[in-house]
Amino acid sequence: MRKVTNYQIKINIMNVAALDIVVHKTNESRIGQLDHSNIQFGKVYSDHMLVATYENGEWQHAEIKPYENLSLSPATTFMHYGQAIFEGIKAYKDPQGNPIIFRPRDNWKRFNRSAERMAMPAVPEELFLGGLKQLVDLDRDWIPTSDDTSLYIRPFMVAVDEFIGVRPAEKFLFMIITSPAGPYYSKPVSIYVHDEYVRAFPGGIGFTKAAGNYGMSMYPTQKVKEMGYDQILWTDGYEHKYVQEIGTMNVFFVLGDKVVTPDIKQDTILQGVTRDSVITLLREKGVTVEERPLSIDEIQAAYHAGQLREAFGTGTAASIAPISALTYQNEKMTLPPVEEWENAQWLKKELAAIRYGRKTDTHNWILHV
Ligand code: COI
Repeated sequence: MRKVTNYQIKINIMNVAALDIVVHKTNESRIGQLDHSNIQFGKVYSDHMLVATYENGEWQHAEIKPYENLSLSPATTFMHYGQAIFEGIKAYKDPQGNPIIFRPRDNWKRFNRSAERMAMPAVPEELFLGGLKQLVDLDRDWIPTSDDTSLYIRPFMVAVDEFIGVRPAEKFLFMIITSPAGPYYSKPVSIYVHDEYVRAFPGGIGFTKAAGNYGMSMYPTQKVKEMGYDQILWTDGYEHKYVQEIGTMNVFFVLGDKVVTPDIKQDTILQGVTRDSVITLLREKGVTVEERPLSIDEIQAAYHAGQLREAFGTGTAASIAPISALTYQNEKMTLPPVEEWENAQWLKKELAAIRYGRKTDTHNWILHV
């Protein structure tokens, strides 16, 4: 495969000491309408949102205000050319009932890497992390506490020039909304290994959380759903041989006693925060984790040798998502029952213990609100 140098990022954080976040609280909270017994993903939004505008080369007018619709011109840039990026982060309550947020600093850094690649301004730490801390604090009652639930935090930035000429915009909106969330997948996923459509190419935007990476996946995903699968395992664009990501997640395979995940050197794969957490935790436990090109042929050979033990996706929304079967060309590779998996089961418990503040945070991953 062709090698492309990792995208180098130079984050220019301006002095934002003067940027106060003005808070307007709602006097009509909707929290009473939240059905704690039926929390799904991405259906309900909390009382407040953060909005900041970038204009004339600086961030200004940062505000936390009641959640409401936006009013935008039909000529707004991002609606036409997709200059839009986002992040996904989760907040939990620790055993004392205090809000905690999992690794938001890593999401902030990744957000600014996406921003640079998409010719958008960097969002300063005070606005991104300071803003989300204040927002989560204000909407702390929206953090659900039952197993597998959290408050999903969605920071995003869109280009909002009223102009349909093609050039990088000069005006941007940065926003954070939050949503009480249940599990993203309720059961192990069945996967189709695609050797036709491509998610990303070296030199492209595969490493970013640009809206277009998700928009382009809708059609191929719809097609595989019609064929009876839940998600796609994307392969590389040159040979359709090396596995990349699964759906909207990073992917791990347990081959014999090793855990293997595609490396991120080609910038075609998202540098997942959950991916990094999984690699760190497994290595600390003494498990061998290899980050390297992994071909579908190698996975198939391991399957035939009885060595394909576990396969799972990782992401903020889904956490650890076990794969029940992989179909490649004419072969369906069925994984052993999930209950027998050593690594994925352990990781799920370990990550939950850290995220819900039940275990000492030895990695400095938790931001206390
Ligand atoms: C996340 O895991 O936060 C994601 O970005 C997936 C999302 C598109 C639902």
